[in-house]
Amino acid sequence: MRLSATFPQSDDKQRVLDATDIVRLIGEHITLRAKGREYVGLCPFHDDHKPSMCVVPHKQMYHCFSCGAGGNAFSFVMNYHKMGFREALEYLAERANVTLTPLRARAAGARQGDGPDDAPPDLSRAQMLAANQTACDFFRAIRSHPEHGRAARAVIERRRISQDMADLFLLGAAPDKWDGLGLTIASKSIPVAAFAAVGLLKAREGAGGGYYDSFRNRLIFPIQDQIGRVIAFGGRRIDEEDEPKYLNSPESPLFDKSSTLYALHQAAQAIRTSRTAIVTEGYMDAIACHQAGIANVVATLGTALTPSHARVLRRLCDTVVLLFDGDDAGQRAADRALEAFFAAEIDVKIAVMSAVTDAKDPDELLKRAGGTEAFGSVIAGAVDALEYRFVRLGAKAGSLGLSARTRLVEDDIARLVDLGLNEQKPVRKQLIIKHLARLVGVDEAAIRAAIPERRRTRAFGTAPEPQASPPADAAVPATSRQSIPERLLGCVLCDPTLLLGLAPEQRD
Ligand code: UTP
Ligand code: MN
Repeated sequence: MRLSATFPQSDDKQRVLDATDIVRLIGEHITLRAKGREYVGLCPFHDDHKPSMCVVPHKQMYHCFSCGAGGNAFSFVMNYHKMGFREALEYLAERANVTLTPLRARAAGARQGDGPDDAPPDLSRAQMLAANQTACDFFRAIRSHPEHGRAARAVIERRRISQDMADLFLLGAAPDKWDGLGLTIASKSIPVAAFAAVGLLKAREGAGGGYYDSFRNRLIFPIQDQIGRVIAFGGRRIDEEDEPKYLNSPESPLFDKSSTLYALHQAAQAIRTSRTAIVTEGYMDAIACHQAGIANVVATLGTALTPSHARVLRRLCDTVVLLFDGDDAGQRAADRALEAFFAAEIDVKIAVMSAVTDAKDPDELLKRAGGTEAFGSVIAGAVDALEYRFVRLGAKAGSLGLSARTRLVEDDIARLVDLGLNEQKPVRKQLIIKHLARLVGVDEAAIRAAIPERRRTRAFGTAPEPQASPPADAAVPATSRQSIPERLLGCVLCDPTLLLGLAPEQRD
């Protein structure tokens, strides 16, 4: 008699695949459009500028024609969310309502992902996620603790955060102690080092050793990734004397500040359906919007918007409204944000609170009578970010003489080229040129003539992003990235007979 060779896990894997619709799964991560019997969208695995990713329902596979990424539902979530096999299995099983075979012999302290196709380096990530989840549970338990949670509950009440929102955003409380979390985790199997690695515990200096809690006496805002995993924490001071006002987890393998948006997990669906994302400046602002029923709202984490943020949002929508409180810092941020979004081919609008209201931020506005309506008019008054930029440039140009004005315009054009003007779709590029010409009162042809073919440098604050292996992106003319010898090599590879026409040193 032959024994069955199927392992429970591979059986689970098949059941999960059978119950998963890859179009729906990927469609929840990036926007897909039907094209014949297939679906296409912007590839999330490289800096895609035209829809290069194709999802094939009858094969339940995806493939990117540009960077070559491809596979099934498992490889998609493993790559997109940096999951190990076991984590992906559990995630997909939960989505598809599949009950997994319990792991029988799971040795004590066994690695989280011991599936057949598991990638080994996943161990520490899983442990760090477990550390964050443990801390999140701890902070939430403290929030309802009669004594240790009292001060945080008072803040929640005073800020008029509803119970529903406090629960939806997993709000918690760090007790006013040095060893609250430290003592709690002593009984858990997760190594202390995992808590230290994500910044929840800090090593004591001096001979005694040991650790102390990083978050003490703070209202805790867990920061989740798009699918809800807790990757970091923000903690608002309860005692106004404490500094800083908000303490955030340090960057860790789980937490990349420059690509993380607060409330994305809660907002993703509304962003997808409304095709628009509103980006606010603070934790409290994002929560207040959700509480007012405006669910397509996220917040940055006290930093300027980056191209990574732009990429995350571009996968979900085509318009982003950046909402600033309206002070000077906000205006500067608006300028930088445009730079971050320019290359992402997403419509960016700037809305400034102070244009409509004296409320200092969305949180304050939404707590007023008629606040939701006023908020609506702030958003309705949002202007295109390029327009916003050009208006300011136009104002500057107006006061200048001809040669100074020419220099200003040339500089600005060079800057737009650095930001990716030449990689814009022709229609958009055309509009930009028209717009610029009109605003600064310069002839369109003159502007066109002033557009350099190449970027000067990439030195406008952002390093070029790491490309997935084959860097070619068909939307970007290859010539703008390759040296002459590289182009020559390309020609020869296409047509080897060309080699005969080259001089010996050229052949080398
Ligand atoms: P604000 O100082 O405008 O605070 O910081 P806020 O969001 O209105 O907070 P409340 O209403 O007084 O509680 C805006 C954002 O900047 C980041 C936080 O993300 C905050 O939400 N921030 C601010 C920090 O990271 N650290 C700080 O010390 C202050
Ligand atoms: Mn505020």
